[in-house]
Amino acid sequence: MKDEAPKAARSDSDTGAAGAAGAVSRRRLLGTAGAAGATGLVLGAAGGAAAYAGMRADDPVALTTVGSTRAMFHGKHQAGITTPLQARGHLIAFDLAPGAGRKEAAALMRRWSATAERLMAGRPAGDRDGHDTGIALDAGPSSLTVTFGFGRTFFERTGLTGRRPAGLDPLPPFSSDHLDAKRSDGDLWVQIGADDALVAFHALRALQKEAAATARVRWQMNGFNRTPGATEQQRTARNLMGQIDGTGNPKPSDSDFDQRIFVPSSTGSDGASPGSGPESDWLAGGSYAVVRRIRMLLDDWEKLPVERQERVIGRRKADGAPLSGGTETTEMDLDKAGPDGRLLIPDNAHSRISSPEKNGGAAMLRRPFSYHDGIAADGTPDAGLLFICWQADPFRGFVPVQRKLDRGDALSPFIRHEASGVFAVPGGAAKGEYVGQRLLES
Ligand code: HEM
Repeated sequence: MKDEAPKAARSDSDTGAAGAAGAVSRRRLLGTAGAAGATGLVLGAAGGAAAYAGMRADDPVALTTVGSTRAMFHGKHQAGITTPLQARGHLIAFDLAPGAGRKEAAALMRRWSATAERLMAGRPAGDRDGHDTGIALDAGPSSLTVTFGFGRTFFERTGLTGRRPAGLDPLPPFSSDHLDAKRSDGDLWVQIGADDALVAFHALRALQKEAAATARVRWQMNGFNRTPGATEQQRTARNLMGQIDGTGNPKPSDSDFDQRIFVPSSTGSDGASPGSGPESDWLAGGSYAVVRRIRMLLDDWEKLPVERQERVIGRRKADGAPLSGGTETTEMDLDKAGPDGRLLIPDNAHSRISSPEKNGGAAMLRRPFSYHDGIAADGTPDAGLLFICWQADPFRGFVPVQRKLDRGDALSPFIRHEASGVFAVPGGAAKGEYVGQRLLES
């Protein structure tokens, strides 16, 4: 197998001078490592050394799929909403520094947008010598996405309360909340995702440095998902409870997908959506992210036999199929009973309670990262889900569903909501524009 592998990347020595072009070609070349891996796992633990030994400086090679995959910065919507889940994620909330207002915020969004565009194309963070930290020098864009949002408090700090959309009204309290205010909310929110940990950290570092005197980090959370290529074929991700998670998500091919996930423009809308009033025209094409850090009580969960775990969710653990039968993609039959007359998908099963069918059609796009922040003082893992869901209106998506889950979800005894934030995420920037410009400069 080793012999059949494509020639791997060329060596570091000929990557040329610093600067955008040099950096790109260097990344393109060195990224080939994974392409060899894809065809023959040559660069796996056993093959890595051999493949490196075989590198030649003049071999024209292509990047691996993982490294070369690129998300576009410009577009109708920001990247990082419908982009496939990435292996690494950072969520960072910033507060504007004392004295920083609308002007400084606009300058920051301009800087951040320019940097995000460069990094998502696999280029260094800036043009100036020494501006880039070099952390991602050998990698391609690796599906990097950088997504920016504004929290409720941003509008007070920038004197823009008149343009604050109703979707940023505070969430109601839920009985199961154990929220830590220091790790909740924030003026600005940045979601970074990439299929490579160094690429993700590189972006985080660049953006944090650029915030400089304008904004300070309020909280940061780090997450992960399965690495692309780890499974034989593309599959829905699993969470740290071992469940297949994401099956019931709205699909971009659904006729009402855009309507459910993205804020419409006020023109031609029914005026009922919080994003649709003239005060929030700037949000057209945008979305709302509800972010919840949800700790999983894994010691308790793992004590349950698999059949009990499956009844908590209403789906089979191995393949995600509903307990009413079929395969992962078969629709749940919520009325189907077993021979004993009991509902196959129990009354309090998480999938039943959260389904649009039981919530007047309420739906959201869940796009989470798992997290693990070590072992807590009591010996339990500080691990769970950085739950991020996207919708055109949090009061028609997250809120009614969470209200219902709060009242009787079989999953509740095994989870704890520890932090919360809601962010208005503007639409994508057009060429020459920065994210949020339509709010900050009109
Ligand atoms: C750690 C916490 C959570 C875990 C482990 C979890 C896990 C799951 C799993 C395994 C499924 C079934 C597979 C699927 O359709 O994706 C599911 C479905 C779903 N969950 Fe959660 N979930 C959590 C929290 C939440 C929260 C907070 C909400 C919203 C308030 C939510 C909303 C939904 C929805 C809407 C579905 C799809 C239901 C359907 O239409 O089939 N989940 N969840």
